[in-house]
Amino acid sequence: MCGIVGYIGNRESQDILIEGLKKLEYRGYDSAGIAVFTQEGLEVRKSIGRLANLEGKLEGDPLHGSVGIGHTRWATHGKPSDANSHPHTDNSHKFSVVHNGIIENYLELKEELIAKGRHFVSETDTEVISHLIAEEYDGDIVQAVQRAVKHMRGAYALGVLTEYEPDRLVAVRFASPLVIGVGKGENFIGSDIPAILEYTRDVYILNDGEMAVLTTNAVELMTIEGEVISKEIFHVDWDLVTAEKAGFDHFMLKEIYEQPKAYRDTMMGRVSEDGRSVVLKEIGMTAEQIRGIRKVHIVACGTAFHAGLVGKTVIEGLARIPVETDVASEYRYRSPIITPDTLVIVVSQSGETADTLAALREAKRNGARVLAITNVVGSSVAREADDVIITQAGPEIAVASTKAYTSQLIAFNLFGLYLAQVLGTRDEAFVAEVLEAMHKLPEQVEAIIEQAPVLKQVADSISTHNNLFFIGRGVDFAVAQEGSLKLKEISYIHSEAYAAGELKHGTLALIEDGIPVIAVITQKDLYEKTLSNIKEVKARGAHVLGVVNAGMEEEVGKSVDELFVIPKTLQLLSPTLSVIPLQLISYYASLARGNDVDKPRNLAKSVTVE
Ligand code: M6R
Repeated sequence: MCGIVGYIGNRESQDILIEGLKKLEYRGYDSAGIAVFTQEGLEVRKSIGRLANLEGKLEGDPLHGSVGIGHTRWATHGKPSDANSHPHTDNSHKFSVVHNGIIENYLELKEELIAKGRHFVSETDTEVISHLIAEEYDGDIVQAVQRAVKHMRGAYALGVLTEYEPDRLVAVRFASPLVIGVGKGENFIGSDIPAILEYTRDVYILNDGEMAVLTTNAVELMTIEGEVISKEIFHVDWDLVTAEKAGFDHFMLKEIYEQPKAYRDTMMGRVSEDGRSVVLKEIGMTAEQIRGIRKVHIVACGTAFHAGLVGKTVIEGLARIPVETDVASEYRYRSPIITPDTLVIVVSQSGETADTLAALREAKRNGARVLAITNVVGSSVAREADDVIITQAGPEIAVASTKAYTSQLIAFNLFGLYLAQVLGTRDEAFVAEVLEAMHKLPEQVEAIIEQAPVLKQVADSISTHNNLFFIGRGVDFAVAQEGSLKLKEISYIHSEAYAAGELKHGTLALIEDGIPVIAVITQKDLYEKTLSNIKEVKARGAHVLGVVNAGMEEEVGKSVDELFVIPKTLQLLSPTLSVIPLQLISYYASLARGNDVDKPRNLAKSVTVE
């Protein structure tokens, strides 16, 4: 995820910026850069790859000056490259900007700016901001920033410098975190506390629509409307490791809590302004090519495969195209029937999973068009696919995938709706209804997360068992499989997921007194059938937790021992909510067993061998 650091004071800013960026390395990045006021003016150095590359450039050609901004970039708009790295400047090189977030309307703004004679050197949304600020500047950088942000839609945390006012550093935030570090005779900005923790523990935390103007000796806080505000200083007493996890005990927990943002970011820029249609500019397929798709193969591994199982239901339900879902390590060897009218969708958080990549190549060899759903711009999968939907989950550090999985579900829903629009299988009112429900999901996830203490209790009791079952029907079975994988990979409790109706064909023999069973029940048309299966396991002594949609609690409540109710949403979208309690149960069960939650035994985050 991108990182920002900024400094204004009396020390060499280059060193402080590099040290600050090093503290953000754990978040993942693919390029880095800094801008410093030197005697020659505002100078920029940037480099693709590790910070060491940038340091190498600076060794031979250092930047001397006591005011600067720095950035580590995790590519979202445009591949990792020197040109796409931040800081970005305008054509006069008098303005420099670092940015975290996504500017939804950057293409429109870019066209307007090009029409005014500005030329662009990168593919990023951020470069638009530096030109906008330059356009708006008439002698006061604060006012120029205030006017510029009014044109922007989306999320941003910005650090801005102009050569015309070398004694001011401007910071502004909307929907992307930014903190201001208060020092003695020096001040700082950081996208995250670790970036500045070595220099100060006193920070202002900016809220949406707030900005700060930093000089060497003062920090002035105001809204983007220009109204002066005052804030309490937040004294940070975390150590560096706690600060990296933003105060959470583990990256996995932090990433579970980041899901509302991941949902919003993955939708951002992909819904029309009136909220009635999906806009997927990244899909290069023409309407005619889409109409020519006869079948879809979804291929992935592990958690991404489970997202694919949900994707199958979504695409078949919305676009009425037949979908097969395959584990990537099996796909090539089953001699799949891939034809030029097959769309192959590969799903991979990392974009580097060897089996998934091999499946992608096999599909292309057979003439299929390949769409990748991945979290990493510039990854092998993203480079080799014909079309790419980037999930905007930000880097996932914990081995157990959480926010990457749920943002893959969001991507599948957007793509399913997009197909339905083009094929005319659903009308505009339906698409608008689903999009409206999708916009509510982030708040609904937050409401589930607030129930974490209840889920911890469930997990504590589960953690004393060695075997457990997850059951569900239809798309709930897909979620059950993800819940089971999550639990086993980090708690080391043996668990299996079963299609609820399949239990009595053998597995029921394993049900004995006290064994925990988690039943996912969110589909109205199927729940009565699942209730009969619950009765079967209860009759043999199982202890059943039902994860149900609001509205079903009364009916299901009579048949289970415990209930967890998820907020009401459309059936289609229920996996995006019902998986959250399962993630939290796995997390707390792992914790109760004293395991290394973020780095479970025998597993790696990215599996680059077959
Ligand atoms: O990077 P990918 O999404 O391709 O990884 C695929 C699997 O290795 C991954 O989803 C794995 O199952 C998760 N760590 C499980 O939480």
